[in-house]
Amino acid sequence: MCGIIGYSGPLEARKILLDGLSQLEYRGYDSAGIAFFDTGSEVHLIKRTGKVAMLREACASMKVSSHCGIGHTRWATHGGVSDANAHPHRAGRVTLIHNGIIENYHSLTKEFNLDERLVSQTDSEVAAWVLDHFYSGDPKAAIKSLVERVEGSYGFCIMFDDRPGEIYGVRSVSPLVAAYTRSGALIASDLTALIPYTRKYFVVPENHIVKLTGYKISLYDLEGAVVSPEIMEVNWNMDSAMKNGFPHFMLKEIHEQPEALKNTIVPRIAKGLPDFADDKIPDHLFAQCSKIHMIACGTAMHAGMVAKALMEPVLRIPVIVSIASEFRYGEPLIDEETLVIIISQSGETIDTLAALRLAKSYGSKTLAIVNVKGSTIARESDFVLYTHAGPEIAVASTKAYSVQLAALYMIICRMALVRGKFTREQAASFIMELLDAIPAMESMISRKEEEKNLVTHLIQQHDTFFMGRGLDYAFSLEGALKLKEISYIHAEAYAAGELKHGTIALIAPEVPVIAIATQEPVFSKMISNVREVKARGAFVILLTKEHAQVDEALADVHIRIPDMDDRFTVFPIAVILQLIAYYASIGKNLDVDQPRNLAKSVTVE
Ligand code: F6R
Repeated sequence: MCGIIGYSGPLEARKILLDGLSQLEYRGYDSAGIAFFDTGSEVHLIKRTGKVAMLREACASMKVSSHCGIGHTRWATHGGVSDANAHPHRAGRVTLIHNGIIENYHSLTKEFNLDERLVSQTDSEVAAWVLDHFYSGDPKAAIKSLVERVEGSYGFCIMFDDRPGEIYGVRSVSPLVAAYTRSGALIASDLTALIPYTRKYFVVPENHIVKLTGYKISLYDLEGAVVSPEIMEVNWNMDSAMKNGFPHFMLKEIHEQPEALKNTIVPRIAKGLPDFADDKIPDHLFAQCSKIHMIACGTAMHAGMVAKALMEPVLRIPVIVSIASEFRYGEPLIDEETLVIIISQSGETIDTLAALRLAKSYGSKTLAIVNVKGSTIARESDFVLYTHAGPEIAVASTKAYSVQLAALYMIICRMALVRGKFTREQAASFIMELLDAIPAMESMISRKEEEKNLVTHLIQQHDTFFMGRGLDYAFSLEGALKLKEISYIHAEAYAAGELKHGTIALIAPEVPVIAIATQEPVFSKMISNVREVKARGAFVILLTKEHAQVDEALADVHIRIPDMDDRFTVFPIAVILQLIAYYASIGKNLDVDQPRNLAKSVTVE
């Protein structure tokens, strides 16, 4: 949450900052601002509520040139959305931007007598004043004192009035990455802002100070000793962070799923079997555990729900899925024999990170499924399985979900093999079926008009219900979340048999029910549930396999996916559910990629 960019180098800083903020806008988009040194070393500050486009417009008439500056796009935590609360904040000789939450801002305000000075309601401005208090010409010493006093999470980028051309960064929990490139030195809250300039970067270690100048980047520990950064390389390219002719990132990312799946699965197949040798994940991790605990938030948690429904019948060990924000404050029943699987696209979600740390403190082995290379969760887990989705820019997750599923399916297969639950032939055929899910997804993407047509009814309604049994229920959870977050239509997912224990009272004429019926063993039960809602006038959107025998009068809209093994239907079904949400959002003329109140990568509690 909150996008951060800093630049020092030969190019025009204002342009780099504004372009960077556009790349980072998915991290927060209620206000934005930049501050920069002009060529006479004077600091200029400009900030606006609204999207980065508003800030760009406000900057258009500025004639001053600059080669060093910082920029911020905000997702409000402390204080409402206003120009004053937008970043950067000025405090004496300090100009500062912040991502995170300073928990002790109130006591700091009292201790440093800041009440009279504050012009915003933000915790960030308090930090800026505390830093100014400690600053007497030595930036690193002042930052060290600040770090010793603030509690909470932060990624700060800082300029000092008397140090033109220099930017300082420090972080705790909240992410910061930096790179020295042919275009100059850059720092950002995440990689997407760096890929136009470089693929090589380093993660700023926690409690280290990074200093950017036009000709180099230096890293120090808090005592001021020079530290060598660990340089990493990402294989994302510029194209992956552009819309490339699609009207929205979300639609582009839906289309990218087949490719992302191939990139995640194929390099991990050896002799037809799943193989994690290159990921350095040993078989004993899978062989020795007595139970599995998956932890994640939102869509990533829903991927875990699908995996659980598949794992327990195959592995015959308990599999639990926890919401990270609940798990982290609980007293979980995990131990050294528990394999904890952490799922996170960004690798920075604060609750998921805290859950990981808690799991490690119980002695559990941790395996993370992460998309962003070098992210905190990836670095802190015992083992990592990277998904290869490329950058996901739309706030609503699509391709990250599919590749998380692909990674989990590979894990299930390898575990079943290692634990003697699958023969080599069974494992090889499981992998073949997984690969066959890719053309099934492609075929659903090519038929996207079906979803486009059906939303006409959906967008006139206030509520929508999703239902399914077994795996289909796990898919429904994600369908409901997707619809809610980008179309603002209230949606709920139910295990179909549960509906009549209360919720069926809400089924009135025309209420949409999206019924997923792809699981053979419970197919007839599902159809009975569809009859029950149809009898109460529901508008039924039925999703089945191609050759399912259904009385067509039951469904107002019937979408058929290719015939396939029950275990893999999630892949084409996910595409349908994503497209329903996408077209509902378009139909309501909403901001698909940046829905209200949300931001990608939830780095605050
Ligand atoms: C919904 C969505 C969120 C994320 C959740 C976890 O479309 O994107 O629910 O799935 O915030 O984020 P990560 O996977 O980055 O930990």
